[in-house]
Amino acid sequence: MSHQSLRAEGVVFGYDDIPVLAGADLAIAGGTRIALLGANGSGKTTLLRCLSGALEPQAGRVLLDEKPVTYGRRGLRHHRQNVQLVLQDPDDQLFSADVRRDVSFGPLNLGLSTVETAERVDDALDLLGLTDLADRPVHQLSYGQRKRAAIAGAVAMRPCLLLLDEPTAGLDPAGVDEMFAALTRLEEHDTTVVLATHDVDLALAWAHDCAIVLEGRVVQGDPVDVLDRGDLLAAARLRRPWVLDLAARVGLTRDADAAPLRDIDGIADRLRGRHTPAHDNQPAG
Ligand SMILES: Nc1ncnc2c1ncn2[C@@H]1O[C@H](COP(=O)(O)OP(=O)(O)OP(=O)(O)O)[C@@H](O)[C@H]1O
Ligand SMILES: [Mg+2]
Repeated sequence: MSHQSLRAEGVVFGYDDIPVLAGADLAIAGGTRIALLGANGSGKTTLLRCLSGALEPQAGRVLLDEKPVTYGRRGLRHHRQNVQLVLQDPDDQLFSADVRRDVSFGPLNLGLSTVETAERVDDALDLLGLTDLADRPVHQLSYGQRKRAAIAGAVAMRPCLLLLDEPTAGLDPAGVDEMFAALTRLEEHDTTVVLATHDVDLALAWAHDCAIVLEGRVVQGDPVDVLDRGDLLAAARLRRPWVLDLAARVGLTRDADAAPLRDIDGIADRLRGRHTPAHDNQPAG
């Protein structure tokens, strides 16, 4: 599978008389991890649904590998083979009797043979750590397991781009770790992951690129820049990640040659680097 890019260009979308997106631009380069943030109701899900082809922009366009999406049957079928959206609530997505049948639904619907479907389903279950639960009734799964089953259904379509709407919301800390282990395995299979989240710490630690939806538009950039802009964060009802807060309080500045200030490892490295020479210079005894 090769990487493909996805782009929203001046996307406008509203529901009846509720304007939501008012010229949103978002560029997703293949192989880049993108975190999409923003206040409740800002339009993250709406933007993901536009990117997935589920909603057609009222103005502007969505481009896959720089080719505009077309909204006829064939165009959408092509788009959905490449771009899959997983909704926040797994119960909006799972409907078959057991996990294997649910994950099989998409590939069978594409017209793939039972042999190829079985191979894709086995791979998807393995990637999401669900092999032992394949024959379980969906309603007997925990919430975190149902979230992974919903993602497995999308992964079985072998998309180049996977759009995940709040995949870690409601998961316990071990569940979040399992989710990220699964996302890392997906990346190794060349799947580009975009995820919507309210978790600024997670966005800083994980993403290569951060996009904040605000007043119908998107502000996109390096997470360390975007998540350090107090005005932007306040307007988007977000707080500064604790790593950047701590770095500011102890006077650590960005340094291209040092560990990036993205997570506890980065900040620990920088603090060690700052203090070790001082200790080394202490007079002996
Ligand atoms: N199907 C719909 N019909 C009418 N209005 C809708 C519909 N879906 C969303 N909206 C409205 O569009 C706006 C944006 O909603 P959206 O779900 O995209 O926001 P969000 O950023 O994903 O929010 P959250 O963080 O709560 O998930 C909100 O005002 C919401 O009430
Ligand atoms: Mg949402």
